[in-house]
Amino acid sequence: QVEFKVDSLLSMMTLDEKIGQMNQYSANFAPTGEVADNQSGLYLKKGMIGSTFNAFGAENVRMLQEQNMKYSRLKIPMLFAADVIHGLETTFPIPLAEACSWNLDLMERTARAAAEEATASGVAWNFAPMIDMSFDPRWGRVMEGAGEDVFLGTEVARARVKGFQGIENPSDLSQNNTLIATAKHFVGYGAAQAGRDYNSTDISEQQLHETYFPPFQAAIEEGVGSFMTSFNDLNGVPATANKYLYKNILRDSWNFNGLVVTDYTAILELIAHGYAQDLKHGAQLALEAGIDMDMISEAFVAHLKALVEEGKISEGQIDVAVARILEMKFLLGLFDDPYRYCDAMREQEVLMNDKFVDLALEAAQESMVLLKNDHNVLPLKKEEAKKVALIGPFINERESLNGEWAIKGDRSKSVTVKEGLDAKYKKSKVKFTYAKGTDLPLIDPVTQKVAVAEPSEEGFAAAVEAAEKSDVVLVAMGENYHWSGEAASRSDITLPGNQRALLKALKKTGKPIVLVLFNGRPLDLSWEAENVDAIVEAWYPGLMAGNAVADIISGDYNPSAKLVMTFPRNVGQVPIFYNQKNTGRPFNDQAPADYRSNYIDVANTPLYAFGHGLSYTNFEYSNLQLSESAFSKGGSIEASIDITNTGDMDGEEIVQLYIHDKVASVTRPVKELKAFEKIALKKGERRQVKFTIDEEMIAFIGLDKEKIVEAGEFELWISKSSDDQSQYATFSFQ
Ligand code: IFM
Repeated sequence: QVEFKVDSLLSMMTLDEKIGQMNQYSANFAPTGEVADNQSGLYLKKGMIGSTFNAFGAENVRMLQEQNMKYSRLKIPMLFAADVIHGLETTFPIPLAEACSWNLDLMERTARAAAEEATASGVAWNFAPMIDMSFDPRWGRVMEGAGEDVFLGTEVARARVKGFQGIENPSDLSQNNTLIATAKHFVGYGAAQAGRDYNSTDISEQQLHETYFPPFQAAIEEGVGSFMTSFNDLNGVPATANKYLYKNILRDSWNFNGLVVTDYTAILELIAHGYAQDLKHGAQLALEAGIDMDMISEAFVAHLKALVEEGKISEGQIDVAVARILEMKFLLGLFDDPYRYCDAMREQEVLMNDKFVDLALEAAQESMVLLKNDHNVLPLKKEEAKKVALIGPFINERESLNGEWAIKGDRSKSVTVKEGLDAKYKKSKVKFTYAKGTDLPLIDPVTQKVAVAEPSEEGFAAAVEAAEKSDVVLVAMGENYHWSGEAASRSDITLPGNQRALLKALKKTGKPIVLVLFNGRPLDLSWEAENVDAIVEAWYPGLMAGNAVADIISGDYNPSAKLVMTFPRNVGQVPIFYNQKNTGRPFNDQAPADYRSNYIDVANTPLYAFGHGLSYTNFEYSNLQLSESAFSKGGSIEASIDITNTGDMDGEEIVQLYIHDKVASVTRPVKELKAFEKIALKKGERRQVKFTIDEEMIAFIGLDKEKIVEAGEFELWISKSSDDQSQYATFSFQ
């Protein structure tokens, strides 16, 4: 039925009107209510804008839509898009942090809440989730992803698409609280060479199929409505004009019939890449590759008509793209009511309602990873009389807590660490003193480059004095939020500025130090790991940051998160990830001590491994059993393990199952995550956790790029983290 409606509308449209649908602008065509005298205002008056982004607010979007309807001859509603990455007004933890919860249900719920808020605020199309795989903490956009593991990343992609588009039936966009999700950026953006944003990528076809494609395939399986191109050159062809990616893979092989939009100015950038002669050529290349909508470049709107007239492209090619755009608008119900996302009453009820604020706290608690806790320095119990010195630039920091891409999250509303702690310990025996010690390096707001790299050390003395008078020092440090996200790559991933120098000064006091970190990427914490007593990786926790930190510091919440990205010992180890491959050196334990695949100056192992994360209680793993030692086609075996909470607190544990295929026609990583379960155990409680090992778990992408299963021997671990080898078994597939 929708197809019929699309066809009949298309048959009434002029070529200009069709091309206009393929044109997307940032929402600046009527900033004050009147159509502006600018380029986009000009196109609006010709009815030649199909979509706009970054307009928020039910009334504001209504006004913009009214303007569009006024000038659209066939009354084609405009599609309003936005980057709602981790909440709209209620800001949830950054996606990398939330992935550390390994709680897919939670991720679905925060995406759902974000969709509820966005759709109440006029937005019907979300430029999220970002499901790029990346192994490089230098790249600032790792904060938007789900870490380094393709299995987990694929599950997270599913959860987020479902959350945005509707948990029960993500393919049904007819309700006015669902929006179109975008699987972005297709593909390889996270493989930017040297971690420098927008840089070229060179990825083998094997790697594309094994590692970079699966989250996108999963998004399609969940019914994702749109894809966004990536900026990078992939193996010599920029993704935005890459026929192999869009035509061969996305359209022909995966049968994706949704809408593909370019990234910002990506067609224009084809010229700088040295792939298009000029914008017109770029428009032709992008259309031929299978792209439907041009974000900002004005390449389609300026050149497609001439290209048709010159016979370089056909109107039929344009019809295909326009049909996909119109179909989305029909599916969203915009033709029935162009203002269905513009109900100001609903907006008022939905934005930052109590339920979402509670969810923001829950998500923040579950996202924080306890990296280290020597001698149980944490939790700081409320009933113990202790003097605690609060030190560091993040104790009172508010602006950065939401992290990047908190598009409408009001930075003045986030709860600081100090506020959270003061409220938590108000009626306790714990007493705080405060000394900031130092500042974060300053960023130039225009160039986004570091303006003052080494802030003054004037505050060190007061901080040291406060530490000396205390029983415990709680230090909150990290990166300014501008240091993560787009165009925020770093070549040095230690704590910025003189924060480490301040820690060194505090260390000399001999007091126990608890370090709470706020950052958007794995950092080089080698000195910190060696010298402080406890480390809480809080990431950018969002609106309820300070409350969640206080819950963890006090033990009111027992930390349960585990890393989804490896923390290196130094930046020279990057890229470092747990599922690397064995080399030939050493070829066995008796091999010579030199000529090995080692560094001379640092171990091969990471500082903190993928899957690592501590709790205030202790979980003992025992009794790993396999129901059989072998299985064959169509069969399966069951792996079970006993997990016992042997500590003094109730807690949650993320149980991880890894498999290694010992010999295969395509060499396999040393281990690969194949399943996980998050369980809650009361203190003293024991639970058996079971996993089914089937062909899917041992399948891999063969040389012909199809999934295959091969007979052979396999190793299996059920463990607390990727570097825990204690519970081990072997099985075979015949
Ligand atoms: O959606 C984003 C994309 O991820 C990066 N460039 C800008 C787009 C629109 O804001």
